[in-house]
Amino acid sequence: MTRKMLVTSALPYANAPIHIGHLVEYFQTDIWVRFQKAMGHECYYFCADDTHGTPIMIRAKSEGITPEELINRVQEEHVHDFAGFGIEFDNFYTTHSEENRQFSEMIYHRAHQRGSIIKKEIEQSYDEQEKMWLPDRYIKGTCPRCQSEDQYGDSCDSCGAHYQTTELIDPVSTVSGNTPVLKESMHYFFRLGDYEADLKKLFERGYVQQSVQNKLDEWFDAGLKDWDISRDGPYFGFKIPGEEEKYFYVWLDAPIGYMASCQNYCSQNGLDFDQFWNNEEFEIYHFIGKDIMYFHALFWPALLMSAGMRMPTQLFVHGFLTVNGKKMSKSKGTFIMASTYLKHLDPQYLRYYYASKLSGDVSDIELNTEDFVNRVNSDLVGKLANLASRSGPMLTKKLDGKLGTLDEKGRVLTGELVDAKSEIIGHYENLNYAAAIRKIAALADVCNKYVEAHQPWSTIKTDAEGTRTVLTAVLNAVKILAVYLKPVLPQYAEKIEQFLAVEPLTFADIEVVLENHTINNFVRLIERIEKEKVEAMVEESKQESTEPQAEVVEEKVELTEPLAAECEFDDFMKVDLRIAKVATASAVEGADKLLQLELDLGGVTKNVFAGISKAYKPEDLVGRLVLCVANLKPRKMRFGLSEGMVCAAGPGGEDIFLLSPDCGAKSGQRVH
Ligand code: 2FM
Ligand code: ZN
Repeated sequence: MTRKMLVTSALPYANAPIHIGHLVEYFQTDIWVRFQKAMGHECYYFCADDTHGTPIMIRAKSEGITPEELINRVQEEHVHDFAGFGIEFDNFYTTHSEENRQFSEMIYHRAHQRGSIIKKEIEQSYDEQEKMWLPDRYIKGTCPRCQSEDQYGDSCDSCGAHYQTTELIDPVSTVSGNTPVLKESMHYFFRLGDYEADLKKLFERGYVQQSVQNKLDEWFDAGLKDWDISRDGPYFGFKIPGEEEKYFYVWLDAPIGYMASCQNYCSQNGLDFDQFWNNEEFEIYHFIGKDIMYFHALFWPALLMSAGMRMPTQLFVHGFLTVNGKKMSKSKGTFIMASTYLKHLDPQYLRYYYASKLSGDVSDIELNTEDFVNRVNSDLVGKLANLASRSGPMLTKKLDGKLGTLDEKGRVLTGELVDAKSEIIGHYENLNYAAAIRKIAALADVCNKYVEAHQPWSTIKTDAEGTRTVLTAVLNAVKILAVYLKPVLPQYAEKIEQFLAVEPLTFADIEVVLENHTINNFVRLIERIEKEKVEAMVEESKQESTEPQAEVVEEKVELTEPLAAECEFDDFMKVDLRIAKVATASAVEGADKLLQLELDLGGVTKNVFAGISKAYKPEDLVGRLVLCVANLKPRKMRFGLSEGMVCAAGPGGEDIFLLSPDCGAKSGQRVH
């Protein structure tokens, strides 16, 4: 059945360039959209620049241009960077558009009619010299807790304290350098609490991932507060209807930009906006980072409810990028702009690398520059591209470029690749690109072994037809692998289509066998990464201008697991925690995350399946001590009986931490 889908990525701010941290999300979304299209679904990918707010106004002023000039220039840069990385939007629009104004006003009016908009007087900091209201980030002063100087108006970088701007000692406006004053002003608020029951119903239907749900439960427990949706002028944004100097807060009209981009696309392509947003015919998916969950999990659906509009189908939240284990940093040269990357390296490397790390959860993605070079060179170039480059040129140079037919062995080889189709489709659908890439690389290993076993470079001298048969199998495998990789590496797949002389490949082509077919001359698919180029990119990034200032996000949050319900002391005492030594460890066929461990508890041996394979290699575990729940009732798992549980810390994925090897404990000891 053909599905109809509308997909969005978060809208980038129009005051700063795209960097490699942003690209985690755009790759994640673009891969999913390309996958859905390759499955034959009707899928649209909409995005836009997020153009309103104080930082954009101030940035334009500092450059001596109008905000409109700034956002137009930045939009061109964004479009250029996205294209450079193969991000293929169906429409990339702007929130500073008539469509967006109309939708924002419409939603505001409808919310107002339902009684969900109220007015309140609030006290706020004001810069009398600049005649502007100051968001917290535009005030600096001395931390009231630790006395560190030069701290922001809302929190202290030195001691981590959060406070009210009014508590800051010796506050100054970063815009004028003067002391701000406190002034009263009337603001509009959206009564989020009116929608609590309906929001809870939405989450019961699976609107968000489980770890996000935990965070939402915390927010519900803390109580949903009224949301300040207005800002006083001067402000770059849409005026609130009926007001002269009051504007919609940028976060009100930003998500409405998803609709504006869709409307703009509909107008240009003769489509009906209502089929997307005013009925349930389309599935709607939003991809976002974990820092803007509050807006997308609560405000956005609540606004839609207030306007009587349909709900999005699902929200997909991802983690942040870390580079070499740390936040991106300008001084380390790891705050890398998209445009800087493109000057030095092939975008496909990064698409492949991020894909190999993305598993659909909210854990952070680590870019380790050494691993990046190794993995791309060994897997993408060494295994995948190599398969094509060792078979394609031989067929064109020595055998007139003509494929023969598959023999039994060739059918077995290609059959193994075809059989992986539903598994790989499942991984893509579930955003587990890491698992898809692992499977594809494992299939490439099988194919490379096939080539080694048949040695076409030597048989070509004596047995032309036998060699043709072998190369026919290998090139059919190359075609299948190209389909599997195409959502991640569209350019690479296009080159394969070109040299195999086939129409654009889709998942429907997996089972189609190429026989008695003439191919074109081979085109080089991808080059090895040179370490020196990565170093040059890092060096250049150290020289670039300062890290951009983002829009103020009061509700930015960290995702932490809430504590589980209390348990009785007696219940706790039932748990027998033991130190155990890992006697053997091995991978589990068909399970992405599991390792099978044989644990020695000092005389007793237990077989345990532990979900730690992304963090530890089996060979590194043998001989290590782990903490084990020794008296857990054995559980029958798909792969065998698990007779205990290994305890570890961390959010999951690659970040799982067992006992330190030098913890000093002894195997078999009970832990109290
Ligand atoms: O956090 C950000 O970068 C915002 N510009 C995202 C906006 S997403 C949507 F709501 F518009
Ligand atoms: Zn402090």
